Amino acid sequence: MEMKIIKSPAEMQHQAIAWKREGLKIALVPTMGCLHAGHLSLMRKAVQNADKVIVSLFVNPMQFGPNEDFAAYPRQFQIDCDLAEKEGVHLIFCPDAKEMYPEGFQTTVSVKTLTQGMCGADRPGHFDGVATVVSKLLHLTIPDIAVFGEKDFQQLAVIRQMVRDLHFPVTIIGSPIVREADGLAMSSRNKYLAGEMRTQALCLYRSIQAAQQIVARAGHDVAAGTIIEATKKTVAEAGGKLEYAVVVDEHSLQAETFVGSSSVLAIAVKIGGVVRLIDNAKLFIVKK
Ligand code: PAF
Repeated sequence: MEMKIIKSPAEMQHQAIAWKREGLKIALVPTMGCLHAGHLSLMRKAVQNADKVIVSLFVNPMQFGPNEDFAAYPRQFQIDCDLAEKEGVHLIFCPDAKEMYPEGFQTTVSVKTLTQGMCGADRPGHFDGVATVVSKLLHLTIPDIAVFGEKDFQQLAVIRQMVRDLHFPVTIIGSPIVREADGLAMSSRNKYLAGEMRTQALCLYRSIQAAQQIVARAGHDVAAGTIIEATKKTVAEAGGKLEYAVVVDEHSLQAETFVGSSSVLAIAVKIGGVVRLIDNAKLFIVKK
């Protein structure tokens, strides 16, 4: 069957309600388009776990700060539709910003504590934009499951919290980071990495590898400070600008003093002074 393309929020909700009435299981994969292998892995997971898969393509103005890359954010609508169709997606939801945020729109969904540090500190208002748009997408598509990438580690924690707090009847599924052959985490923003910047960007994955090696060698009693210092060094050597490096509990996002079984190293680095990349990984490698 041909993949449907819907722009109107009202029509989207109408279709979702019709599918629900038929007893079909719906999966949502929310994206801002410019699809890459990471997104495709989310779609594959959705296709395996639902009868109908909706992919939203919406560059959400509400989650970009005034000096961020909203206007420049890469857009490739037809390519995205072709890629999604090949994965077996049933419907693309691609609303206009004017329909998602009509004149007079005045509601914000805000998750308080989890949004304080990390990307929330560097990008004020960003997670309010994410929580608000994801709430709207969940209301419009009424999915049984929604699949998000684990690369956006803080985003995933924020969304899980919001879904719990507001009783959304949806199961949130996190899907592992997909990496290029040399370890760079897939991101739509990798498109901005020209020439030397592409090599510099490897400092994120190198920091993760270095941290995992430190922990694997030492076992549990590694101070978070040791990991953070090693990360600072790796990023500086590559010529990147470290925005943050934190060792946090994977659920609460609280900073940890020592690496434990649920510790995650999360980092954000600006490459070439302009391209902001994030990455993360669990630090305690379970020996098999
Ligand atoms: O992760 C993203 O691409 C966006 O933050 C999301 C979840 C689609 C909301 O706009």
